[in-house]
Amino acid sequence: MAQKDFSNKLILGDNLTVLQSIPDKSVDLIYLDPPFFSNRTYEVIWGDDGEKRSFEDRFAGGIDHYISWLKIRVRQMHRILKDTGSIFLHCDWHASAEIKVDILNKIFGRNNLKNEIVWYYYNKFQGNINKLAANHDVIFWYSKSSNFVFNKQKEKRDEVVKQIKRVWDKENSKIVNAKDEDGRVQYIETDEKTLDDVWRISMLQPADKKERIGYPTQKPEMLLERIINMASNEGDVVLDPFVGGGTTVAIADRLNRKFIGIDQSVMAIKVTDLRLKKRQNMLFSQPYEVILPIFDLKKLQNQDGKEFEICQGYYSVQAIDKKGLSGIDKVKINVKQKKEK
Ligand SMILES: C[S@@+](CC[C@H](N)C(=O)[O-])C[C@H]1O[C@@H](n2cnc3c(N)ncnc32)[C@H](O)[C@@H]1O
Repeated sequence: MAQKDFSNKLILGDNLTVLQSIPDKSVDLIYLDPPFFSNRTYEVIWGDDGEKRSFEDRFAGGIDHYISWLKIRVRQMHRILKDTGSIFLHCDWHASAEIKVDILNKIFGRNNLKNEIVWYYYNKFQGNINKLAANHDVIFWYSKSSNFVFNKQKEKRDEVVKQIKRVWDKENSKIVNAKDEDGRVQYIETDEKTLDDVWRISMLQPADKKERIGYPTQKPEMLLERIINMASNEGDVVLDPFVGGGTTVAIADRLNRKFIGIDQSVMAIKVTDLRLKKRQNMLFSQPYEVILPIFDLKKLQNQDGKEFEICQGYYSVQAIDKKGLSGIDKVKINVKQKKEK
């Protein structure tokens, strides 16, 4: 039976529930930038109910709790990845050791660790601290099997350099120095080099007006361009389960990949939708669907014998306790959510 096409969607909801509904082996590439284990209040970006609830969930029980919160989600990601697929998990020093050992090595296998990419953002402002400035994030790249998509990438150097020319020696099946007829080593001048695992990419600055949509954890487009070009091909499905401001899906769309973006925050889905709609004015962007949970309104109105007023917003339904008692979260959690077609 043909598999339901699950691509080109923005989905509002807890990514665990959404991931559980995605078929096995249907996604080519996953990039995730989950909220870090930094316990800073500005990890709450959007400030709406969905995001705040997730923030409180994660920090309720310290690092062990955070790791199990993430682990059940990564297990689903492994299930939905195709055998040729890869995952890129973005994190920082707060939990990178635990994420590598307790989650990724266990689920993907330590032999499938391809690279520990260091994103070095040299221009972050640091206050007066009594230790070295933390100026990098880590992106763990794991493939699902030994047969995975990898397209070598080049990057520009700051200056032109003279290098020994290297060529493929067919007879001996290896790369060797190129030599002229007199046996002298040949040189080339180049301003490019093959991309390695340290990426010097500036953090987005207020001056980056064209790209910046204005919230603190937005990732630079160049970061996603590299990942998507490197580990997927045109027409592949790219998924971001913590889509935030939509960097991954916007770049996937631009690079002719299909995409799935998930976020628990109404604001994040709204911002991503608007970002994609801007692209929709451009000739080659793809149609996509925004999926919102449908609440059972009748059940919602009479939950626990209380009466609720239903406010239907652009992207959500809110149940507000008429007597002003608490219970909004309780109702939201209990309410059965169905997916739109
Ligand atoms: C660090 S931001 C992602 C930023 C994104 N990479 C970008 O460049 O725009 C993390 C996002 O994860 C979302 N989030 C947190 N917990 C979630 C959950 N359980 N399900 C879905 N989204 C969640 C937050 O609402 C937030 O938008």
